[in-house]
Amino acid sequence: MKGIILAGGTGSRLWPSTIGVSKQLIPIYDKPLIYYPLATLMLAGIQDILIITTPDDQAAFQKLLGDGSSLGINLSYEIQEKPEGLAQAFIIGARFTGSESVALILGDNIFHGSGLGRELAKCTSPDGAIIFGYEVTEPQRYGVAEVDSQGNVISIEEKPEVPKSNLAIPGLYFFDNSVIAKASRVEKSYRGELEVTSILEMYRREKKLKLKPLVRGTAWMDCGTVNSLNDACDYIRVIEQRQGFKVGCLEEIAWRNGWITASELKQLSKIFNSNEYGQYLQRLAL
Ligand code: DAU
Repeated sequence: MKGIILAGGTGSRLWPSTIGVSKQLIPIYDKPLIYYPLATLMLAGIQDILIITTPDDQAAFQKLLGDGSSLGINLSYEIQEKPEGLAQAFIIGARFTGSESVALILGDNIFHGSGLGRELAKCTSPDGAIIFGYEVTEPQRYGVAEVDSQGNVISIEEKPEVPKSNLAIPGLYFFDNSVIAKASRVEKSYRGELEVTSILEMYRREKKLKLKPLVRGTAWMDCGTVNSLNDACDYIRVIEQRQGFKVGCLEEIAWRNGWITASELKQLSKIFNSNEYGQYLQRLAL
């Protein structure tokens, strides 16, 4: 399976902080935001990943992450000229995806929880589409799913004023290859965007849409607003300081997945000039 990280957009809800720098490059506690969605794809076992950015920001992402070879992964880059909607990721990423299935993760979505990687790894050969459901107190901020007693999705609505349930759809989606053809048929919504929910609706009509509930102990955060971004920083700080383990540490995941050796991990730690991040990697590599 291939993976796409959609890391464009204007980040206007965070202005002035994101006027000069991409939202997905600003720090969430001790590492840039994009590390977390990239870590999520890596935990699912996905190694071939496309990062879609604005034209202005592409060089900064390349400076940060390079071609991924030092992490045992393969990173490619494409540009989204204007933020015309999440479904556009599949039009931009059509050549990259080829005939494979593909996971899409939004560049501002953070997932954390026990066993999450193992659960996601089970989704990498989907027969149709797999999405997740997460109970939230403010569903009107998200895509919202209505499900029947058997767990079948009855409806999906993008930011409904009157939500039919509390079940938000996080920004992580697993699709079979028909997503590419489906994306090319999506028409712009009343918001002027190519909505991912329109693609999900096509799968739903074909009875090929599966919703998996994310268990209560899982954390899902998006960092779209000043408050949600600060909440995410607090969450990561508290977990990391309490446990001594880092969340979303790319080098650690690459090593634990067996994609790099302990001596390569040690080598990578030297980049950080013995700062706290580098010391963490050194401890792992012992
Ligand atoms: O966070 C989950 C939610 O993400 C889902 O529940 C919604 O169904 C989905 O539409 C999306 O809603 P948002 O309001 O959070 O989408 P937003 O426009 O903020 O875009 C999410 C990220 O994707 C953001 O980091 C910017 C990036 N983006 C967005 C658009 C529209 C792009 O890179 N290109 C785009 O064209």
